[in-house]
Amino acid sequence: MAEALKAYLKNLQAKGVSHLSLDEDSKKHLRTFYRQRNHPQQTESLPPVEVLPLPPSHSPSAPPSAMAAPSSSPSAAPQKAKSPSPLPLTITGDTPDQKIAAIKQQALEARLYEHASVQLREKLCFSTGNTSADIMIIGEAPGHQEELQSEPLVGPAGQMLDRILKAMGIERTEVYLSNICKHRPAIPKQTMNNRKPSQAEVDLCLPYLKAEIEVIKPKCLLLLGETVAQSFLGEEFSLSSSPEQWLDYDGIPLRVSSHPSELLRTQHANQTKRKVWEDMLAIMELLQMPITSKQRGYFQ
Ligand code: URA
Repeated sequence: MAEALKAYLKNLQAKGVSHLSLDEDSKKHLRTFYRQRNHPQQTESLPPVEVLPLPPSHSPSAPPSAMAAPSSSPSAAPQKAKSPSPLPLTITGDTPDQKIAAIKQQALEARLYEHASVQLREKLCFSTGNTSADIMIIGEAPGHQEELQSEPLVGPAGQMLDRILKAMGIERTEVYLSNICKHRPAIPKQTMNNRKPSQAEVDLCLPYLKAEIEVIKPKCLLLLGETVAQSFLGEEFSLSSSPEQWLDYDGIPLRVSSHPSELLRTQHANQTKRKVWEDMLAIMELLQMPITSKQRGYFQ
């Protein structure tokens, strides 16, 4: 079974799929399978545990402040001895570039990956793009490619995003790109495989991202996918029940669209493409960009 599953996953990965949605039952089976394979001697005596910390809930009406210290998750503190206290975040510098550099430096010095509640890899992958951008795009977490290049959204999903931007008449260098998690989430014996960040990992990184928003002051925020949206809007947020809407984050219009990795999956690709494209048209309208009739009709 392990080999067949591995071959199946490798095949998906070769097609550019970087994330999979699993229902609770499948997750339980995989955890049991992982424990039996890697810790056979402990399997009998282990109580049922969650591999990843369970997410605490956020209140949509009271987003944590950009300057708040990252929260820790004491209930999810596993074996790590060292738990560095997060540095208070200060935004210094005169220009947006200097301010972003100062925030990045603090994220480096905070060594977030050493925090007890997380399983993150060491390399920091902070942000990229234009610090005077009208559009700030927020993804989930760096994957294999992003870690190699120390730049968010450069793998298959990022390349799909570049194509979407191009269709809007926008170059990647004109927008500001960041992630809710600043280090690649770690997996035992990791090669090119990636995982979503846990809530504890997101919580640790969010203050840096919120400080970035405060500096960039974009005219709109584009959140890629439900996981990202839930970090901002509360875990009850669902893309399927609130599609195609403008929301608000601290006075900034915020749009949630499907993650570009969704578009790499073949199933329902056309339907999802049109929905994503309608979000992009809404952004173009908000920014009063010219829209041709050809552009209006894409993916119909
Ligand atoms: N890479 C990123 O940097 N962010 C994502 O959301 C996905 C891949």
